Amino acid sequence: MADLFGSIALGDLQLPSRIVMAPLTRCRAAEGNVPQDLNVEYYRQRASAGLIISEATQVVPEGQGYPMTPGIHSQAQVAGWRKVTDAVHAAGGRMALQLWHVGRVSHPVFQPGGNLPVAPSAIPPKGQIYGNTWKKVDYVAPRALELSEIPGVIEGYVAAARNAKLAGFDGVEVHGANGYLLDQFLRDGTNKRTDSYGGSVQNRARLLLEVVEAVVGVWGSSRVGVRLSPLNPNNDIADSNPKETFGFAARELARMKLAWVHVLEDIKTPAGEEVTSTIKAACGAPVIANSGYTLETAQAAIRDGRVDAVAFGKLFIANPDLPRRLGAGGPFNEWDMKSFYGGTAKGYTDYPALA
Ligand SMILES: Cc1cc2nc3c(=O)[nH]c(=O)nc-3n(C[C@H](O)[C@H](O)[C@H](O)COP(=O)(O)O)c2cc1C
Repeated sequence: MADLFGSIALGDLQLPSRIVMAPLTRCRAAEGNVPQDLNVEYYRQRASAGLIISEATQVVPEGQGYPMTPGIHSQAQVAGWRKVTDAVHAAGGRMALQLWHVGRVSHPVFQPGGNLPVAPSAIPPKGQIYGNTWKKVDYVAPRALELSEIPGVIEGYVAAARNAKLAGFDGVEVHGANGYLLDQFLRDGTNKRTDSYGGSVQNRARLLLEVVEAVVGVWGSSRVGVRLSPLNPNNDIADSNPKETFGFAARELARMKLAWVHVLEDIKTPAGEEVTSTIKAACGAPVIANSGYTLETAQAAIRDGRVDAVAFGKLFIANPDLPRRLGAGGPFNEWDMKSFYGGTAKGYTDYPALA
């Protein structure tokens, strides 16, 4: 019987356990969105994860939507990440980079030249966003990408995937979740295009699939994963038929024989588990499940064969030695929400490990 503490192969990656560190934006990069020593220490502390998936990392300058998030488009960023991966490897860990473009979840203050953010359609998210000085500002209506610009968007992911190799990562995860650019194309609430990237599910899934295929061209399929969030409404996103949309995407992804598909489900609702099962049956890849899992629910989901691995987010923020604590049945440090985004070592590298 599969076990949370048992090993698993995700493509070419051999994980000593099925305990994955979820991608967690912490907004603590240095000037130029370059990973710094503080980030090296944070990830080094968490190297006992079966696999670390990095915080979302912008593939191009236009892909940024929050202050101080790291990028992977400059040489300095590659060098900063190299220090992180070296430290994780020296501590016995494995790490994949999450490739990110926020699309409309941005603001001219983050955009080169103060331009409008780009998106499938010129529909702003409702609400407000943190500007670059942490002051909340209203979202603006993004600019719809021209059809002729789409190859350039894909090229941005390819260059970032190449940089991730130079930076020493073990693989990459394409961020197709949480209302960011690829999800904005996929779900029909945000995609009102009338060209070959909008309308039918085939067209809406096209950019996600082309990006994943292009990244596989750099890394090989056995080191590429993708993250999806069929029901997550974050960043004002919705789809009228998640089962059809994500079932289609999963069937198409199956052709690519990916190392993993990572599903952010809402495990508190049967609908969340159902859509994960639909994806698992269709995608042909190991499935990492996430959201709200505890030791007990993670172990049950793996023993039942419902999922293959479980990613923990907030528990990993507060517990650098989470696998050891899960093995011991606890105790677990509490997380402090106030220090999730931005700041210093406080609430970042100062959570204690078990003695
Ligand atoms: C502070 C914070 C930052 C996050 N950043 C990311 C991110 O960069 N990429 C991503 O895909 N999800 C991100 N998420 C979502 C988490 O990966 C995860 O889905 C969520 O925390 C639910 O899992 P949990 O209940 O184990 O915490 C973030 C969540 C939190 C709390």
